Amino acid sequence: MKKIELSFADQLFNLNEIVDFTQKHKSSLDEVLGKEEIYQDSLGWLDIDEWAGEAALKRIQDKAKEVQNVANVFVLIGVGGSNQAARAVISALPQEKAPEILYAGNNLSADYMNKLLKSLDGKSVYINAIAKNFETLEPGLCFRVLRQYLEKRYGSEAAGRIAVTGTKGSSLYQLALDNGYTFFTFPENIGGRYSALCDVGLFPMAVAGLDISQLVQGAKEMRARLLTEPAEENIAFHYAAYRNLLQLKDYRLEMLSFFEPRFQYFSKWWTQLFAESEGKDGKGVYPVAGNFSEDLHSIGQFVQEGRRMIFETFLDVSEKDTSLLIERDDKKDYFDYLEGKDLWTINKIAFQATFDAHLKGGIPCSKLTIPKLDEYYFGQLFYLFMFACYLSGKLLEVNPFDQGGVENYKKNMFQALGK
Ligand code: PA5
Repeated sequence: MKKIELSFADQLFNLNEIVDFTQKHKSSLDEVLGKEEIYQDSLGWLDIDEWAGEAALKRIQDKAKEVQNVANVFVLIGVGGSNQAARAVISALPQEKAPEILYAGNNLSADYMNKLLKSLDGKSVYINAIAKNFETLEPGLCFRVLRQYLEKRYGSEAAGRIAVTGTKGSSLYQLALDNGYTFFTFPENIGGRYSALCDVGLFPMAVAGLDISQLVQGAKEMRARLLTEPAEENIAFHYAAYRNLLQLKDYRLEMLSFFEPRFQYFSKWWTQLFAESEGKDGKGVYPVAGNFSEDLHSIGQFVQEGRRMIFETFLDVSEKDTSLLIERDDKKDYFDYLEGKDLWTINKIAFQATFDAHLKGGIPCSKLTIPKLDEYYFGQLFYLFMFACYLSGKLLEVNPFDQGGVENYKKNMFQALGK
């Protein structure tokens, strides 16, 4: 299998700094590999077999087949870490022979919910509510609404159309026990944004027809790589070191840029991972996504000529997996210069042109080359970024696993709602 590679443009950045930095902070990598005592309750994702071993995958796959046999629409209820990883892969790799996947519990819009309920009419529905802390308002409330919808439509058979993913002993667990819902485990020792490789992310992916064994295999091979690559060559450490070095030089914002819209929801997963893990104690690099070429026509101006505080990490897929030839046209639209060219190639040319222009405009640019867009490499990407985020947070001297700051608005909201 070809490897994911990370390369840095050296015009604005001395690459030796990365090697020096990784040597100087080698102990951080050793600590991450050694499963630090202080983060024991958050490191369940580090050893993939703990929650995505053979038995777990088989149970998920068996249940997913059952769901596929009864349902033509599957509603994934969850917010933040509870739905982002699954949505990232499901939207990137849609499968023909799978139920339609809809999302709920990720906003509080009555309009959205009404439209969603209406769209379920006449379809065979199955729902999966995912919540680690079953106090989060969005998934909790939407689960109630959808549960009641199923009860009205299916009566006593509604329970057979509900799976919940929660922590053992939680009120969601109790609800499942009391009502006969299928229960999946949200591991105590995994936080939402690190939950791609357990029941949380894998069950919806399997229902959507994705090959979760390949995804887990990809993650395992990335893990093996990260465990063996020495600090000075370690891809996750290079990435973590690079972004920490740049933030020391006052770069405040990292843009994950891509010319493949299939990365749209992956970039949301990545944004959450780094924003919640690092944005604390007055520190952190603000993560944003650049969905190009569309966003070049909006934020592109700022990136090129605005305040110099951005660095950019480009995602590039090397395999040509699709093609569209531009045909001859008799009408005068002045696009004849593209005749005979492949849209795939045109997109690549736009990618390189943007990379070079941004670099020239003073944006430090790096490129993550992904050999192919499939389950295996999504597994690799999940593990690579989670590992790098843990390392990066450590280098920044923040706790990469908590998110106390998100409680503030909740306190106000719960008070106003009379909780
Ligand atoms: O990463 C995290 O821990 C959070 O983003 C959570 O996933 C998110 O807030 C949803 O939490 P819960 O699953 O408890 O509803």
